[in-house]
Amino acid sequence: MQTKIFLDSGDPKETKQAIDLLGFLDGQTTNPSLIVKHPDAQQRVVSGDKFSRRELEDFYRTTVQEISKFIPEGSVSIEVYADKDSSTEQMLAQAREYYGWIPNAHIKFPCTYEGYKAARAATTDDIRVNMTLCFSQAQAAATHAATKGASRGDVFVSPFIGRLEDNGQNGIDLVRNILRMYQTSESHAQVLTASVRSLEHFIAALELGADIITAPYVIIQRWANAGMPVEDGEIKLQPDYLKAVPYEDLDLNLPIPSYNVTEIHPLTVAGLEKFSNDWNQLIKD
Ligand code: E4P
Repeated sequence: MQTKIFLDSGDPKETKQAIDLLGFLDGQTTNPSLIVKHPDAQQRVVSGDKFSRRELEDFYRTTVQEISKFIPEGSVSIEVYADKDSSTEQMLAQAREYYGWIPNAHIKFPCTYEGYKAARAATTDDIRVNMTLCFSQAQAAATHAATKGASRGDVFVSPFIGRLEDNGQNGIDLVRNILRMYQTSESHAQVLTASVRSLEHFIAALELGADIITAPYVIIQRWANAGMPVEDGEIKLQPDYLKAVPYEDLDLNLPIPSYNVTEIHPLTVAGLEKFSNDWNQLIKD
C-alpha cells in the first residue's frame, strides 16, 4: 500500500489505540478543534478552569510531544492559530516556535494568501508544512508554487472532502484532480486527504492512490474491522446529489497571486472561523 495512514486526533490515547489496532501508524494530524476535544481540555471547560493563552500553548505542546513519542518515525501536524486577519509574520512566529516542539512536525498553515507567504518563508528555512483548509484545485496549485524548491515529503496539501460534501460538492473529485495535477507536473507536494467522514471516503482515497489519508479513530476502527481493504470497486458510485468538481488545467509555475487566492475561499474563511472560535472558547477572558 503506497498510501500513508494518519490519525486525525488531538488525543494521544487514540494514537496508542490506533497503533495497537493497525500494528502501525504513519502520522497524526491535529487542529484547534481536535485539541479542544482532548478529555483534559474538556475537563477544564466543564470545571470552569479555562486556560491562559500561554497555558493553552503549553497544553498543545505537551499533547503533541506525547503523540510524537508514539510515532517518532512518523509526521505530526501542528496547526498555527489563524483567523482571516492573521498576518504572515504572526503565523511564521508561531511556526518557528512550534517546529521546535518535536523532531517530526509538519506545520499547518491555512490556504490563504498570508498562509502561502508564511509557507514560502517556512520552507526556505527547511520547516515542513501542511497547507490546510484546501477546497479548490487553485489552492493546491498555489501550495506547489509557494513551496517550490522544497523536498518531497516536506509539503502536504489537505483537501477537506467532508466539508466540501457538506457544501454539496464532490470532495473525492477534488482529491482526484489535485493528484492528477501534481502527477502531471511531477510536483514535490503530496496530497493528504482530510475531513474524512466515512469508510467510503477512506477507501475511495486509497483507490485513488492519495499520498496520505488522515481519519478519525472511529473510521480507522471501521477500516480495521473490515479487514483493511484497499479497494472495493465502489469509487464510481459517488452520491449523485453531489456536484462534480471538474478538472482544471493549471500552470504550476506562476506567482502565487495568479491563482486567485488573494480573496480567501469562503469555505476556508468558515474553517478559520470555526477553528479560532473553538480555540478561543478554551481561553479565559
Ligand atoms: C485534518 O488535518 C483536518 O483538520 C481534519 O481532517 C478536518 O476534519 P473535519 O472537517 O471533520 O473537522
